[in-house]
Parts: sequence; C-alpha cells; structure tokens
Amino acid sequence: MEEPPGQTVVAESDGVIAGSAKMGPNRPGRGSHVATASFLVDPARQGQGTGRALGEYVLDWCRREGFTSIQFNAVVESNAPAVHLWQSLGFRIIGTVPESFDHPRHGLVGMHVMFRYL
Ligand SMILES: CC(C)(COP(=O)(O)OP(=O)(O)OC[C@H]1O[C@@H](n2cnc3c(N)ncnc32)[C@H](O)[C@@H]1OP(=O)(O)O)[C@@H](O)C(=O)NCCC(=O)NCCS
Repeated sequence: MEEPPGQTVVAESDGVIAGSAKMGPNRPGRGSHVATASFLVDPARQGQGTGRALGEYVLDWCRREGFTSIQFNAVVESNAPAVHLWQSLGFRIIGTVPESFDHPRHGLVGMHVMFRYL
C-alpha cells in the first residue's frame, strides 16, 4: 500500500521564520487516510494569527492530499490558545486522557484527542 506523503511548512514574516507545522498520516497502512499535524509558533510572535494561518494551510493541504479526516493525538487541556484555535477550525474533542501530561505549573493535566472530518 502506498503511504501518503508528509510535509513541513514554515510561516515567514519579514524574512524571519515565525512558526512551522509538520503534517502527514497519523498511522501507517490502514490508518493512513487520517492525517495528523503538529505546530510551533515563536513565543515572541504568538497571538498574531500565525497559528491560525498554519492551521488553515494544513487543512487545505490535507484535503489536497486526499486525507478524509485529521486527528490531533495530544492537545494539553490547559493550553487554552491551542484548544480554542483548533475548535474554531472545526475540531471537536473526542475524549481526554486523564492526568497524561505533567505540566510544569499545573501538575498532572489531561490531553485531548481532537478530530475533524475534512
Ligand atoms: C498553539 C499555537 C500554535 C497558536 O499559535 P498562535 O500564532 O499564537 O495562534 P493565533 O494567533 O493564530 O491564534 C490564537 C487563538 O487563540 C486565542 N487565544 C489566545 N490566548 C488565549 C487564551 N488564553 N484562551 C483562549 N484563547 C486564547 C486567540 O485569541 C486566537 O483566537 P482568535 O483568532 O479567535 O482570536 C502557539 O501558541 C504555539 O506554538 N504554542 C506552543 C506549542 C503548541 O502548543 N503547539 C500546539 C500543540 S496542540
């Protein structure tokens, strides 16, 4: 079975990299029609729309590549900007793995599995 490709994209502002996203199949083989992605925006440039632009790009890219849905496996529940951003881009929380992340400030917190059809 041919695997769908993975890719990394960067967001640039005034010639400086503001953030990046990496996307591709969530699982090999028979799970490979479901995409996943990870995101990182420069802390000095967060809250300026870079994450949203990367998220929208990733959704378009996944559709173009023929994925049928996309899943985030581990969204820390106390990461309010991320949870808000993904919900506003159409993701829903499938469930929360309790106490699965040892947060340096909040202690043990859950991690959401988030999903949307494409
Ligand atoms: C999550 C992350 C990718 C978002 O990128 P960003 O460039 O800061 O995001 P944007 O500026 O595009 O949008 C952030 C959204 O969160 C909102 N937000 C910011 N702080 C918030 C808070 N405390 N509570 C709720 N929403 C918040 C913003 O208002 C914005 O929503 P809006 O467009 O509806 O106004 C970025 O913060 C990051 O790299 N964090 C560290 C790594 C990480 O968490 N990666 C994702 C793991 S799932």
